[in-house]
Amino acid sequence: MLNEIKIPRHIAFIMDGNGRWAKKRLLPRKAGHREGVVALRRMVDECEKAGVEMVSFYAFSTENWTRPQDEIDALFKMVKEFADKYLDEYVKRGFRIMFMGDLSKLPKETVDALKRILEKAKDNKGMIVNIALNYGGRDEILHAVNILLDAGLRNVDMQTLSDCMYTAGLPDPDVIVRSSGEKRLSNFMLWQAAYAELVFVDDLWPDFDEKIFANIIDEYSRRDRRYGNIRRIN
Ligand code: FPP
Repeated sequence: MLNEIKIPRHIAFIMDGNGRWAKKRLLPRKAGHREGVVALRRMVDECEKAGVEMVSFYAFSTENWTRPQDEIDALFKMVKEFADKYLDEYVKRGFRIMFMGDLSKLPKETVDALKRILEKAKDNKGMIVNIALNYGGRDEILHAVNILLDAGLRNVDMQTLSDCMYTAGLPDPDVIVRSSGEKRLSNFMLWQAAYAELVFVDDLWPDFDEKIFANIIDEYSRRDRRYGNIRRIN
């Protein structure tokens, strides 16, 4: 029987394996990240073609600050170039752009470039492209709790806490994909991941292409999402 194709509303990517991709080619790690940006752009195109409503990418975690300073500098330089060149193009394609995480620790020129994009994209209504920068799931939950404490609340429900997350009002990821064979969430979208399907792909992130995307959609389509309910037999 042919499998019915289901398109997730929200797909989130943990982009892993850039360093290994570069090492295999005797290239510096930043060459892997550069190729990682190309893969990210391929996935944005695939998501748009498939009719996904929101796509999220884990670009820099709260733990990534322990990396060598020259790698961190190269990454934020890449984010700035990406904003100037490609996010600008995404704005023209009508995408909504968002960044989740504490941007205050990023280099000023990177933050300025991101702010320019947010301003330009503010009236867009298309697919949401969400990039996590200096993001940690625990950090996000703590940040939300502190917003509620500052507001003087003593008793909160699920919805109120949810409304203080970076993703307030947006769909939770239906599927979280991690590349390079590692099987962890690594502090990514801990609150939002509650019912997400987890898909682990052995390929390294820079190798992500149309075919791998199609396999992910196929795998997701075959999963039986029950949300704690029992299986319905129609
Ligand atoms: C993980 O691979 C990748 C990262 C920590 C950075 C991801 C960043 C990009 C794809 C580029 C910058 C993003 C934008 C939005 C322009 P790794 O370095 O941990 O790989 P390894 O595990 O093989 O060493």
